[in-house]
Amino acid sequence: MLSEKIETSINKQINEELYSAYIYLAMSAEADRLGLPGFSNWFKMQFQEELEHADKFFNYVLERDGKVNLAAIEKPEIGEETPLSLFEKALNHERHITACISSLKDLAKSESDHATDVFLEWYVSEQVEEEANAQQVIDQLKLIDGSPNGLFMIDRELANRTAAPAD
Ligand SMILES: [Fe+2]
Ligand SMILES: [Fe+2]
Repeated sequence: MLSEKIETSINKQINEELYSAYIYLAMSAEADRLGLPGFSNWFKMQFQEELEHADKFFNYVLERDGKVNLAAIEKPEIGEETPLSLFEKALNHERHITACISSLKDLAKSESDHATDVFLEWYVSEQVEEEANAQQVIDQLKLIDGSPNGLFMIDRELANRTAAPAD
């Protein structure tokens, strides 16, 4: 059994992860519009990864005999962007998600829910990777400083990202 507080918070996190997926899907469309198929692919892969993050929480709630409550997913605010603004938004968003995971972890500890505390470890490490991935592309984009050749090369590199198997 999950406590009511934990159940409510994990349900909120399922929504956050689905919203993340939605943001990355919007980013994928915007990158395509910018003529950057590699960037578009990277965001599409991230979209799929976020669906897996949501699914992992979903399965956990059911496994603990909790109740899944699906709420409406907010509209992602992605307008006309640049490659840099897309990744800056991605990094800011991931920092927000890291904060969500941290408060969930604090809650699990304060409720002495050891199973949830351990379960969340995976997300703690994942968030380190998510922030580092976005930061790496931001660094590269700053390095090339708007050079079309550089952008072309980064796009080629981001085209290589494939869906990582869920662990
Ligand atoms: Fe996520
Ligand atoms: Fe990841």
